[in-house]
Amino acid sequence: MTDIHVVILGAGKGTRMKSALPKVLHKIGGITLIERVVRTASGLEPASITIVVGHGADQVRDSLSRQDSVRFVAQERQLGTGHALLQTRSILEGKAGTVVLLSGDVPLLRVESLQALLAAHNTAGAAATVITANMARPFGYGRIVRTNGRLTKIVEERDATPAQKALTEINSGIYAFELAPLFPALDSIGKANKQGEYYLPDLVAIHRKQSRVVETWTVESAGEIRGINSRTELAEVTSMVRQQKNEELMAAGVTLIDPATTYVDADVVVGPDTVIYPCVYLEGSTKIGAACEIHSGTRLVNSTIGDRVCIRNHTVVTDSTVESGAFLGPFAHVRPGSQVGEDAHVGNFVELKKTSMGNGAKANHLAYLGDATIGEKTNVGAGTITCNYDGEKKHRTVIGANVFVGSNSTLVAPVTLADGSYIAAGSAVTADVPAGALAIGRARQENKDGWVKKRKETKATN
Ligand code: UD1
Ligand code: CA
Repeated sequence: MTDIHVVILGAGKGTRMKSALPKVLHKIGGITLIERVVRTASGLEPASITIVVGHGADQVRDSLSRQDSVRFVAQERQLGTGHALLQTRSILEGKAGTVVLLSGDVPLLRVESLQALLAAHNTAGAAATVITANMARPFGYGRIVRTNGRLTKIVEERDATPAQKALTEINSGIYAFELAPLFPALDSIGKANKQGEYYLPDLVAIHRKQSRVVETWTVESAGEIRGINSRTELAEVTSMVRQQKNEELMAAGVTLIDPATTYVDADVVVGPDTVIYPCVYLEGSTKIGAACEIHSGTRLVNSTIGDRVCIRNHTVVTDSTVESGAFLGPFAHVRPGSQVGEDAHVGNFVELKKTSMGNGAKANHLAYLGDATIGEKTNVGAGTITCNYDGEKKHRTVIGANVFVGSNSTLVAPVTLADGSYIAAGSAVTADVPAGALAIGRARQENKDGWVKKRKETKATN
């Protein structure tokens, strides 16, 4: 086995995206285009992965900071794909082996196809092998020009003659190159074309002129090598990826009531017998257990949900954990850093932030619980507010187990309500409450007998 060196081109601006974000940082199924390509490349277990960065170089680097096996080289000016590959010279020239050249904007390519490319490349003893595809609508792609069945050159759309434009076999922009003849050949690429750029596909004609073997390997499904150049293509490919993810979920025993309106990011995991209603968004690293119900309008982001959890309509959960048997919503908002214990309830219009609810604890209606710890089986009445912010700092509210917080209580943090304490409805609690005590923090009610009648009489005499 010869060494494999992967190079990924990602320096282009992506003019057609009309975006402030570098093209390769646009996401499909929650994963950036460039990360998808890096993941595929890693499947080859290559000796090295080098990414050519240019537009938004720092952003692209930062987005991949977790991938410590990746190196970056800068292409200061984007003079074309051939010029981009030349930037890896200081890293790769003189090494032995094969370069697998990937495009940062071709996100669906499978590692199996790269393995087939390498097999074809090695069998033919080729200097270069190109992945090609047959496309009914080849517009925009470089066309594969053959003479007597052999690849002779690749012509870009803009430079193609009408006869060449009619060719339906296209260049995927994915190649295998032998390292030994690569850099001398790259040096002889010119820029006599409509865009005045150094075109990497010109390597084909250069190698052919020097009588080196140039091979092709044709991918079965052209969808796999689709490039993303515009928002329309981003949407089309997103829809393909989404459909595939939904099919995987259903094959694993998840019920999707309406797959057409179910939006699940690539890395999301869902357990069997979970039922997902229409218009649900499951994002990032979300994991959902078995036999849950996720009702319409719900959005779960980077959160872990246990088994048999029922999340009713229009609930948002972000960066939080919900344990088995819990009930959420409708209209609950669980903000980052929260934990909802087993069988706990977080009801309508209840907001949690950095708050943990113990097992069996309940806040069924209309509450804001921020920076709070709530013990097991505690009941938080409707309208309860933790006043966690004094205008400068955030403070914690600690509520023990089996506490009863009466409706419309205002808990002014920092404050502790010890186990088994009882808060009278409408209290403003500003001091700690001992275990088992009743706290009443409101003006005592006064009843004035006969007051209404007296007022009427006063009015009549005036
Ligand atoms: C390219 C190919 C075309 C092929 C198509 C497949 C060339 C000249 N054309 O066209 O034959 O059918 O891909 O998708 O190669 N890039 C750089 N530096 C540059 C220019 C581009 O890093 O100076 C990167 C881009 O960020 C992108 C990739 O190279 O990731 C391809 O560039 P792009 O401009 O999208 O090429 P296409 O016009 O799609
Ligand atoms: Ca492209």
